[in-house]
Amino acid sequence: MTGLRSFAGRRRRRPESQRLSLCAVTKAGPSRAGAFLEQWRPLVDEIVVAVDESAPPGTASACASIAEQVYLVPAAMANMERYLGWLHSRCSGEWILRADDDELPSEALREVLRSLLDEREPTHYWLPRIWMHPTPETYIAERVWLRDIQVRLVRNLPGLWRFSGRLHSNIEVTGASRIVEAPLLHLALLVADLEQRRAKVEAYERVTPDLRHESGAPLNGVFVPEDMGVTVLERSRQADVGSAARYLQAARRPEGKASPAGEVPVVSMQEIERWNGERAVSPGAYQARVTLPQGAEPMEADAIQHVQVEVTNLGEEWLARGPQPEPPIQVGYRWWREDGTEIARPTLRTPFTETVAPGATTRLTMAIQAPPEYGRLQLRVDLVHEGVRWFECEEQLEVDVSPGQSAPAPVRSGPMTIADRIGDLDTSLFEPIESQTTEPDRQSLLALHAAIALRGPFDYLEIGSHLGGSLQAMVADPRCRSIVSIDPRPLSQPDDRGRDELYPENSTERMLELLGAIPDADLAKLETFERGTDQLSVAELPTRPAFCFIDGEHTRAAALRDARFCLEATTADGVIAFHDSNVVLPGIEDFIAELGRPHHAFQMPDSVFVVELGAARLWDTPYVQRALIPMT
Ligand SMILES: C[S@@+](CC[C@H](N)C(=O)[O-])C[C@H]1O[C@@H](n2cnc3c(N)ncnc32)[C@H](O)[C@@H]1O
Repeated sequence: MTGLRSFAGRRRRRPESQRLSLCAVTKAGPSRAGAFLEQWRPLVDEIVVAVDESAPPGTASACASIAEQVYLVPAAMANMERYLGWLHSRCSGEWILRADDDELPSEALREVLRSLLDEREPTHYWLPRIWMHPTPETYIAERVWLRDIQVRLVRNLPGLWRFSGRLHSNIEVTGASRIVEAPLLHLALLVADLEQRRAKVEAYERVTPDLRHESGAPLNGVFVPEDMGVTVLERSRQADVGSAARYLQAARRPEGKASPAGEVPVVSMQEIERWNGERAVSPGAYQARVTLPQGAEPMEADAIQHVQVEVTNLGEEWLARGPQPEPPIQVGYRWWREDGTEIARPTLRTPFTETVAPGATTRLTMAIQAPPEYGRLQLRVDLVHEGVRWFECEEQLEVDVSPGQSAPAPVRSGPMTIADRIGDLDTSLFEPIESQTTEPDRQSLLALHAAIALRGPFDYLEIGSHLGGSLQAMVADPRCRSIVSIDPRPLSQPDDRGRDELYPENSTERMLELLGAIPDADLAKLETFERGTDQLSVAELPTRPAFCFIDGEHTRAAALRDARFCLEATTADGVIAFHDSNVVLPGIEDFIAELGRPHHAFQMPDSVFVVELGAARLWDTPYVQRALIPMT
């Protein structure tokens, strides 16, 4: 907590055993916030409310007269989802139910709520939401409105939770669950008029344009059923009509004078952000003490050994747990020869098995694999922020490595995912559609894909797609959020090698047909432009791609023009990869000569050239290292 702000209200004494906490964020006025909490009060043992600092005066004191815990949170947060982790962490009940301030318990939910808490197996439940419209008497019974379900009732075990903090995201919970029949009543369409809701949709469209449901319906349009041709309505239960009417009547009451002041804790942005996977890591994070309390045994070349490692977090950030920590900070190791040279090979990573707070110590088992060399080698165990840097706080120890017989492959538990296959540089992902790439090119592209995906979900842009060969892994990988394909589709194109390239059957339709047949392909995230970058402006792009791949016209002038376009389109730490660098190298050189920004540039096999902006070094990732020596 960073301070106290005045508010009015009485503290409630907490009952001995707390079964259920309700938590909510609000920036509503005092009448509406109060009306919302009053409806939940009889159902829960504790109420925790975060009041947005920009809420009208009086909201905090109205909440405090009903809730056990009230906090003021900074209004400057980009979206309300960023508060969720912290908000859940304040609750002390065995279970937590999160509701928005326009959501009420239905009669059916009131009836079943306590019995849900008694079940032993589920760690969370999905609750449906019914969207009342155009009055509380009816709700929408078709399309996305009918299918709206949300993880809202969760067991209070932070070890099961993860939060990304992204817009429209929610808590992610591991363990057993099911969809409950009893709904939340959602009054979003009743508390705001059509104009206000249209403005809300416009605001969402600016941040996440063109979000689509799997049916193709625009998701942001859910707030304006008036514009979406809604016709199927069902009658609400009479008790639910009554609850909604009481809430709306109270919410519309004119606000009285704000009550006199008491005290309310003010929460800092830093405290809230630590729960969010997608956050910037501060420079003060990179400090730790790493030890191997039991040392390591002698090994055979290429063999695997499991050792215990103890890590004390001496930095200022919380280090996330596995299996896929966000931010991607894990335990890693590197090998050095006796002559002081590093054995530059990809090595294994081990995620933390629990969240490690600043100052805390954890112990875990990690797998280390000996290199294919032997001798008295030096093992350095350290923490690594994937794609960014090593902590350089390593434990160093000598390990005798003897010549091996045959090396066991690294063990993987669970089924192979698309992310595993990309990380393994499995080029069979390129088999369904003919691609104009060599085997080593494909390994390089998969390595870049895997390394960029480590930073979190990303957007991809490609110039020159032909039949979609280089899009095959992208359409199937959910970590790739969106794809832009730019290709004017000429039947032949100039090439600096002196002969024009012919592209028969070169059409967007053909490409979409082929990509549609890829297992798990998500074509809804793909947008195509049948123009070159000379006919297109960056402002027309739906996203800011973190990964751009240039494989269009093979001339110096076109490569330079495409690279300039990508530079304008990409993120501050974006990656621009060129194909056929053996042909378009003069264009790449022109581009680097005029770049004038911090960057790294490197060649990968066979003809993939990479320019990455900012301080990150993909070159250091195990994926890129592995692709440097192509597997045959
Ligand atoms: C080498 S192929 C792309 C191959 C694809 N990336 C793959 O891996 O299978 C080149 C593509 O560039 C496209 N192209 C030609 N001129 C272009 C331009 N000026 N801008 C963008 N793309 C262009 C062609 O239509 C063709 O589809």
